[in-house]
Amino acid sequence: MSPALEWHDVRDVERAHGLPHARRQAKPVSIFTVDNFYEEYGVISWTPRPTATQGEGRTRATSWAYAGGMKLDLGSLRLGVATAATQIEGGNADTNWHRWASTGGVKDGSSPARAADHWNRVDEDIELLKQLGVRYYRMGLEWARIEPEEGVFSQESIDHYKDELTKLRDAGIAPLVTLHHFNNPGWLEERGAWTRPEAIGVFLRYTAKMVHEFKDLVSEWITINEPNVYATKGYVFGEWPPGEKSILDAMRVMSHLAQAHIRAYELIHAIQPSSKVGAANHVRVFDPANPYSVADLAGAKILEHLFQGAIMQAMAYGRFRPPLKGSATVRPGRYYDFTGVNYYTRSWVTGFSEGTRPHSPVNDLGWEIYPQGLTRTLRMVAKKFPGPIYITENGTPDVADSFRPRFIADHLAAAVRSGTQVERYYHWCFTDNWEWVEGETPRFGLVKLDYETQGREIRESGRMYTDMIEHKGLTEEAFERWVVPSAAGSSLR
Ligand code: FCB
Repeated sequence: MSPALEWHDVRDVERAHGLPHARRQAKPVSIFTVDNFYEEYGVISWTPRPTATQGEGRTRATSWAYAGGMKLDLGSLRLGVATAATQIEGGNADTNWHRWASTGGVKDGSSPARAADHWNRVDEDIELLKQLGVRYYRMGLEWARIEPEEGVFSQESIDHYKDELTKLRDAGIAPLVTLHHFNNPGWLEERGAWTRPEAIGVFLRYTAKMVHEFKDLVSEWITINEPNVYATKGYVFGEWPPGEKSILDAMRVMSHLAQAHIRAYELIHAIQPSSKVGAANHVRVFDPANPYSVADLAGAKILEHLFQGAIMQAMAYGRFRPPLKGSATVRPGRYYDFTGVNYYTRSWVTGFSEGTRPHSPVNDLGWEIYPQGLTRTLRMVAKKFPGPIYITENGTPDVADSFRPRFIADHLAAAVRSGTQVERYYHWCFTDNWEWVEGETPRFGLVKLDYETQGREIRESGRMYTDMIEHKGLTEEAFERWVVPSAAGSSLR
C-alpha cells in the first residue's frame, strides 16, 4: 500500500491568487446537439481553381489556387513544430510511462529513458530548429522532473527549462508550453492520478509554480493535451497506463481533467494576465460506414459526443454534459484564448465500432490519411468555438519519408481551404520520438533520428517544410520537387 497522499486543498492555490469560485453547478444539456459534417469527400485536388467562387453558397475562397507561381499561399498561417517532454527528453524521471515501460507495456520493448536524449542535447536541437527555420515551437514539461516528490520542486530541473526557454527566445523561437501531456509523476499515478478529484489541486499548484517561474519567457500555454485519448487508452481499452478497463473511471478522469483545465485557465490569467491559454484537443472525424444506416449514423454521432464533443464543450465553456460531470467549483464561461486541434485521421463507424475506411491510403500505423477531414474539423471547431485556432499537432509516421511531403502539403491546403481563423500549424513531430506504447518504431520526425548514435538528419520533408516557411507557401518548384514524387500513403501495407 502506498502512503496516503497529503492532498493539497484544491482551493488554496486559487485563493492565493484571488480567485473565488462560485458554487453553481453547470446545467446538463441534451447529448443530441452535436453536429456532424458530411461534406468534402473526394481527394485533394492540386489542379488550378478560381481564387474565389461567388454565389455558390458554401464554397469559400480557395486560396490554394495558383497565384504568382505559388501552389499554395499560407496567408497568415504560421508553421512550427511540436514535441512532448516524455517523448523526446530521455532520462529516468519517475513517470507513469517509465513505470509502464518497465513492466513490458511497450510493443518494441523500448522505454522513454532513451528517446531523443533531448535533455542533454538542447543546444544541438535548437540549432536544428534554426536550420529548419521554424519560429514557433510547441514543447512540454516533465512534471515528474519538476516535482519529483509530492510538494517538493526541483530547482535544478526548473533552471534547466529556464535555460532552454531563454535559448529559444534568443533564437527568435516562440515557445508554446504544454503542462500536461499524458505524463504523471509516479507519486500521483500510484495514488489514482486523475480518477481522484484531488489531482486537480496538485496540478494547480504545479501550474502556479510553472507560470511564476517562466512567465518572463513563455506567454502561451497549453494546459492539457488530449484528455480524451489519455482517458480512453488508459481507462477504457487498458492499452496505456494504468491499464484499466472502466468506463466510469474514464469519465471521471475526463471530468477532472476538464475541471483542471478551467481552473488552470483562470489561474494562469490571474498570474499572467497577458498570457494565451488553451487545451490541445484530439479531434477526429466520425463518419458512418453506411450513411443510410440508422445504426451507423447514430453510432457515429454518439461516439463523437462521448469522445470529443462533450469534453470540448466542458473545457471551452464549463458546460458539462452527460456523461461528464462538473463540480461546484467551475462555472460556465469561456475558457480558451485559442482552440488547439490535434488532427490525424477519421474513424469509420459501424454501429458502435470504429474502423478504418476500406481502400483508403493509410500511414505506417494504419491510420487513414484524410486531409479533407482537417477542413471539416476546422469548420466545425470555428462554428462551435469562435476565435483563433492553432493546429497543435498534425503529422504522420512514415519511416521512408515517401509520402510525408504530400501529406504536409495536402493538410496545409486543407487548413487554408477551411477559410477559418487558423493561425498556427505545429507539425508533429520535430524529430523522431518515442511514441508511447508503439515505442521507437513509428517515425514521425521532420528530423530523422538514429536511436543508437543519437545522430540527427533533416529529412526531405523537413527541407520542404523549411522552403514553405521561407516562401510562406508552396512554390511551383517545391511542388514539383517534393510533392509530385511523393506517394499517397504507406508502402508498409
Ligand atoms: C497524439 C499525441 C502525441 C503523439 C501523436 C502521434 O495523440 O498527443 O503525443 O503521440 O498523437
